[in-house]
Amino acid sequence: MKAIIFDLDGVICFTDKYHYQAWKQLSDREGIYFDETINNRLRGVSRMDSLEIILERADKEYTQEEKEAMAAEKNDTYVELLKGMSPSDLSDEVRSTLEMLRDRGYKLAIGSSSKNTRTILGRIGLGDFFDAISDGTNITKSKPDPEVFLKAAEFVGEKPADCLVVEDAHAGIDAAVAGGFESAGIGEAADHPQVTYRMSKFADLLDICK
Ligand code: G6P
Ligand code: MG
Repeated sequence: MKAIIFDLDGVICFTDKYHYQAWKQLSDREGIYFDETINNRLRGVSRMDSLEIILERADKEYTQEEKEAMAAEKNDTYVELLKGMSPSDLSDEVRSTLEMLRDRGYKLAIGSSSKNTRTILGRIGLGDFFDAISDGTNITKSKPDPEVFLKAAEFVGEKPADCLVVEDAHAGIDAAVAGGFESAGIGEAADHPQVTYRMSKFADLLDICK
């Protein structure tokens, strides 16, 4: 293993509650039922695909133009909420584990579906930390398609077989498998039948990547 590719949301930091609040504000106004269980299905899923999941509960059809306006409105709310994030949202465990992995010689990259990746990394004090960032701005297909991880591997100049993907979402493990990567799953991703390593905490990476 030469490089480690980290998903962002749910692995490095936690933005679920902000996504929830932003989607909730929109769905309440539109009169569409939305709850935390539906929000959990949005992990790792792109903004437009997330909207499609939310609209499963809508009782009217929306045009493409209306959908794009809704996604933009949700993002405006979300970006405003992200202003509440600071370096205190990066845990000591994550920070020190990342530093130790770097000291062990691994290349460290991000592979996230989010178009707000660089904003979030800047907010938590990791704006200049990673060797490469592959995110929602450089892909055309989101997880479970492997594109975001294949691009991250390319950006660090390593083959998928030499990279470990760290994920919290089932869609992310599916993407890792499809791309020929080994994976380490945390949270619900630890239960994925095809995950390579099951983690109960972030620092478990220090046992996986010696
Ligand atoms: C991550 C999150 C998803 C989110 C996606 C797109 O994968 O886990 O919940 O929908 O990013 O985020 P964005 O910031 O581009 O709307
Ligand atoms: Mg995630």
